[in-house]
Amino acid sequence: MDADASDALVLFGATGDLAFRKIFPALQALVAHEGFELPVVGVARSGWTLEALRERLGASIDAYGDRTDRAAAARLAGLLRYVDGDYREPDTYRRLREALGAARRPLHYLAVPPSLFATVIDGIGGSGCAAGARVVVEKPFGRDLASAQALNRVVHRVFAEPSIFRIDHYLGKEPVQNLLFFRFANAFLEPLWNRDHVEAIQVTMAESFGVEGRGRFYEEVGAIRDVIQNHLLQVVAHLAMEPPVGEGADALRDEKVKVFRGIRPLAASDVVRGQYSGYRAEDGVAPGSQVETFAAVRLHLDSWRWAGVPIVLRAGKRLASTTTEVQVFLKRPPQQVFGEAVPPRSNYFRFGLGPERVEIAIGARAKRSGAGMLGEDIELVVCNERGSRMGAYERLIGAATRGDPTLFAREDGVEAAWRIVDPVLAAPAPPHPYAPGTWGPAEADALAAAWGGWRAPKRE
Ligand code: BG6
Repeated sequence: MDADASDALVLFGATGDLAFRKIFPALQALVAHEGFELPVVGVARSGWTLEALRERLGASIDAYGDRTDRAAAARLAGLLRYVDGDYREPDTYRRLREALGAARRPLHYLAVPPSLFATVIDGIGGSGCAAGARVVVEKPFGRDLASAQALNRVVHRVFAEPSIFRIDHYLGKEPVQNLLFFRFANAFLEPLWNRDHVEAIQVTMAESFGVEGRGRFYEEVGAIRDVIQNHLLQVVAHLAMEPPVGEGADALRDEKVKVFRGIRPLAASDVVRGQYSGYRAEDGVAPGSQVETFAAVRLHLDSWRWAGVPIVLRAGKRLASTTTEVQVFLKRPPQQVFGEAVPPRSNYFRFGLGPERVEIAIGARAKRSGAGMLGEDIELVVCNERGSRMGAYERLIGAATRGDPTLFAREDGVEAAWRIVDPVLAAPAPPHPYAPGTWGPAEADALAAAWGGWRAPKRE
């Protein structure tokens, strides 16, 4: 093991939803695939015992993990420890230090509500558990620019920037990594990848389900904070960044920050918000809620490469399908050589980002068989049907334990991303209602009208 690698994992919020759905299954996968064998100290204030936590782990693996790999589940259960206590009590952290035993470089994972971040971080700092340690902070990282800056100050009271791992699980997804890889591993793309050849870029993150019992959480965020400020802007950074100069995590992250800095802060006219009919009847949602479950935004990226190219994003719940897809439309051929005008947007690159499997397609025009010189739209498509063996959380937790920050958001990046959405967060206009199963409110069409309108994702 790398001398600098973490030697224990502390899971604050071990009895919570995130641990249940994502973290335990990821740890099981790490045990199975990477030989993960760090002690895992769960911390929570649930009045539980280690046995109860082990049962919860079993239920989590049954629901979200690999049910067939009992051996890995059992090995993980054997690594588990538990400290029950109030996050405000110094005694909780004293017992945590005891439970850590000989471990000197723990990775603290804050799978707790954001309102507890500062309490837990100060508790870790005051107890000697921070020395040699790293910390993973879950999203949402702040709720606007000012609170993100304040949170960064809180985390920095105890941890230096290289020890802070801000999670955006999109960065751990195979297809999102592939977007970056595909761009810079292929020479043919670069001559086309700019304002001279690209007409517009569209990113859709559609989910056919609603807030699924997370109404109370969702009321505090809405679509812009939940997925646009983080996941979709990260995707835009992969699409729009310059090739990194030099090696290492910071070379890459420097370029991403430049993209965020180049995007103009949103004006009200760049944003259309929507809310699905029925949202207000969800558990935990206010009867008069103005929170958006859909948002479409038009970005302006002022860079030499992208000036003037429309970049539009839309994300929403209860839409027509569950698909995340990038479409990069190329300009039309300059002349009509054959008997027909080439229809707009026949040429494009399409990247399927979710559900999980990798899909890359190139849209082209080819001759329709027969007598005339008439064409049809075709796709050259590559698809990894096997899905990715490595899930996002598995990849990210593994990277954090090794101290590799490449896939995590850096302080300046998070703040620059908040700067983009900040102006439209406070006192927005009421959201437009939309019917479940559609592509959101018709008002969003105006944002994409200038270049032919939104195109539905191909993969539905
Ligand atoms: C989360 C959001 O960050 O990402 C959810 O809070 C959203 O609202 C989810 O559903 C989507 O991620 P994935 O990996 O399921 O596509």
